[in-house]
Amino acid sequence: MSPAKEIYKCFGCGKSGNSISFLMEHEKYSYVEALRWLANKYNVEIEEKETSPEFKQQQQVADSLYIINNFAQQFFTNILFNTDEGQDIALSYLRERGFNEEVIKKFQLGYNPSAKNSFTKAALDAKYNIDFLQKCGLTTIRDEKPQDNYRERIIFPIHNQSGKVQGFGARIIKSNDKAPKYINTPENEIYIKSKILYGSYFARLAIDKADECLLVEGYTDVISLHQAGIENVVASGGTSLTPDQLRLVKKYTNNLTIIYDGDNAGIKAALRGLDLALEESLNVNLVLIPDKEDPDSFVNKVGAAAFKEFIRDNKKDVVLFQLEVALKDAGNDSNKKSAVVNQIAETISKINKTEEFTKQQDYIQQCAQILKIEENGLHALVNKFIREKITKEENKISREK
Ligand code: GTP
Ligand code: MN
Repeated sequence: MSPAKEIYKCFGCGKSGNSISFLMEHEKYSYVEALRWLANKYNVEIEEKETSPEFKQQQQVADSLYIINNFAQQFFTNILFNTDEGQDIALSYLRERGFNEEVIKKFQLGYNPSAKNSFTKAALDAKYNIDFLQKCGLTTIRDEKPQDNYRERIIFPIHNQSGKVQGFGARIIKSNDKAPKYINTPENEIYIKSKILYGSYFARLAIDKADECLLVEGYTDVISLHQAGIENVVASGGTSLTPDQLRLVKKYTNNLTIIYDGDNAGIKAALRGLDLALEESLNVNLVLIPDKEDPDSFVNKVGAAAFKEFIRDNKKDVVLFQLEVALKDAGNDSNKKSAVVNQIAETISKINKTEEFTKQQDYIQQCAQILKIEENGLHALVNKFIREKITKEENKISREK
């Protein structure tokens, strides 16, 4: 960095630029995020152009929710480390699961006590607004009284791209048939579920460096892998990926490796997002964790080195994997087999950007071989799906005119 000249040059890779491009490169901020970060750091006010009253109002609500979440996170972390209940019930549970203090602090984990309203009381005493506390999902009204929503639960704060807390996952400690294992923040101005990838704030530099993003299901999977030194990892929260989440991954890398439990639900969830991922031009690989383990329990069992080795050796191209699963399902039923051919042709048709021509050709060749059918036939079918898609889009455009 040359602060006087307001430029930087990286002696490692030769990249150069100004402070905005520095932040974009190294912090993976967007242009606007970099600008806001700098303005905030140097106390410069930036006039945001879009200041319709509704927009301004929404920004103000968002700011209030961030402030409350920040207060809540600090409250919960303080309880976890500095009270008897926190230490005896929650910290001991986390330690028993193998999480060390460093990683617990890094992810800002916490604990909401079992009393009816210890958090809510502290928040109201600190003059936070009850409506906003409810909007944040931290407080609910029961028997006409405000009470804590996450009582007796471990708190996992969920951070946005710049590290601010946008919501929480709250895990029950002793499993219980009547209560859900996790409760999450309800949708609000800053917690939009379809846009969240848990851990992305802590993973972004490692993803960039490895040029690969590992995707797991759960909070605890992300945290355990971090502790094992595997930091290029984010979690989807157990649902299939949304376009916004895929775009977030694409900001950092084109290589997505999905690491799920070997059970059926996990595989299905992984495959549901596949076509979308291909449309976004991501290279998607899949690794299934064996023996009813998940990444968290597996890395704790075998250790970091063996875990990495397992991922490296068991990575499967997800298009080919999908084909193999479907073929196994179809068995000798010829109707089912043609359905499989159709399905794979449609999947391959999603890989349709000019620069991906060879990738598409490779898939056609490999899939035809696995299916034991003529390559030309599969090619024709793929083209049929591409044409159909174009016609659909043209119709849509002419209808909109
Ligand atoms: P541990 O059991 O503590 O290791 O958590 P886990 O992450 O392994 O849980 P699991 O594999 O059951 O679920 C994966 C992810 O799905 C979780 O991290 C949550 O994000 C989400 N999830 C699981 N159960 C629930 C639930 O009851 N409600 C909600 N909203 N999300 C859940
Ligand atoms: Mn688990």
